[in-house]
Amino acid sequence: MLASTLNRSLEVSISPPHRPADSELQLIAEGSFGQIFHWPQQTTVYKTVREDGHHLQLLREFECYSAASSIAHQPQAPGEFGIPRPWQYWQPIGIDQPGRIINAANSHLSVLSPRYEANRELSSRHLWSEFQLPTFTMDLIPSLHPVISQRYKLLFWAEKIRHTMSIRLLRLYFGRTNLPAVTISVQPGLKSDPPLDVSRYERLAEDLESYGIQMPTPQQVAAGMGQVLARLHWLVGINASDIELVLGGSPAHGVQLYAFDFNQCKQWLLPDALHTGSKSSARLTCDKYAEDTLSQAAKRLAILIFTQELYYPRPHQTGLYEHFKDGYMGTIEAGRDNWAAYAKEVQSAADCFFEEYERLDAEKQARTNRLKR
Ligand SMILES: Nc1ncnc2c1ncn2[C@@H]1O[C@H](COP(=O)(O)OP(=O)(O)O)[C@@H](O)[C@H]1O
Ligand SMILES: [Mg+2]
Repeated sequence: MLASTLNRSLEVSISPPHRPADSELQLIAEGSFGQIFHWPQQTTVYKTVREDGHHLQLLREFECYSAASSIAHQPQAPGEFGIPRPWQYWQPIGIDQPGRIINAANSHLSVLSPRYEANRELSSRHLWSEFQLPTFTMDLIPSLHPVISQRYKLLFWAEKIRHTMSIRLLRLYFGRTNLPAVTISVQPGLKSDPPLDVSRYERLAEDLESYGIQMPTPQQVAAGMGQVLARLHWLVGINASDIELVLGGSPAHGVQLYAFDFNQCKQWLLPDALHTGSKSSARLTCDKYAEDTLSQAAKRLAILIFTQELYYPRPHQTGLYEHFKDGYMGTIEAGRDNWAAYAKEVQSAADCFFEEYERLDAEKQARTNRLKR
């Protein structure tokens, strides 16, 4: 994806616009790779890298956002995840390179081969002169309604920490079962969004009913996780490594689920390869998965999800896990037409994904039980 974007974009010399005297640009959150800024009047945010050397990774993330948001930016049902749409990528003028803006051509974006065009003019909506390092804009994920943040703190935080930080989003750690009943310390400052495991989620949802706020059921959330993961795996072709799944705000519905943060994702599938009318001898997988069959790669995806991610329900979480699996497999079934000639292979690779996920969980449960004895 990356090479094609570089080829298609035009390089243009851009003189930075006038820098606003008193910048209202606010740093609202940060991770280990990027920082997120917001200008109060806008419904977009700016993701910038902490280190210049990471510009290619950021550009690739921008492309991932384009492909991913085109398959899931407008949730239809409770429990479905939305993905922020990216708008523009900005590479500042360097010693040996001109400045460059790349538009995400969302309006005519095809799911599997996102197209970009270069923009010769600086859009007045963007404040690129504020950024010395590569940056892109995307939709703002609205913060949770203040009532939700307040109730979360009252229910799950010790009194002494309730004023240390404000809560904008909550991470849906449905694979975690070890959160304390009450959190007694948090790192001050800008840090990651607080966690909601299933029991905290249920308690919060019940509590919020009396405020007229309706949350999706945990089963709907689990199904939505399966659906978005299957779409990222099979429609976008990425391994979904280190993405974040959160509960955020929504002006229309009170709450909404969002998936975002794609800078660690690796392409594993060449999605166009599955779209040929007939089977070809061309490779289907790529990068570090290039030597794998679809089933071998799917098994490796399961290992990654099991060993590194905390969001997805685990097989032993009965009553929840089935919904996650149904969400994933239902998406595979519904997508049959996308990979007509390979429908059988995709189905059996998805089965392999769950066999491995369940095997790893059973193994871990057995180990834990042995240690308890
Ligand atoms: N589109 C967005 N709208 C609102 N907040 C966001 C958005 N994207 C990211 N964030 C916030 O910024 C934090 C850091 O962004 P993220 O993309 O996760 O950076 P990193 O790649 O460093 O992990 C996230 O955990 C989240 O709280
Ligand atoms: Mg992050």
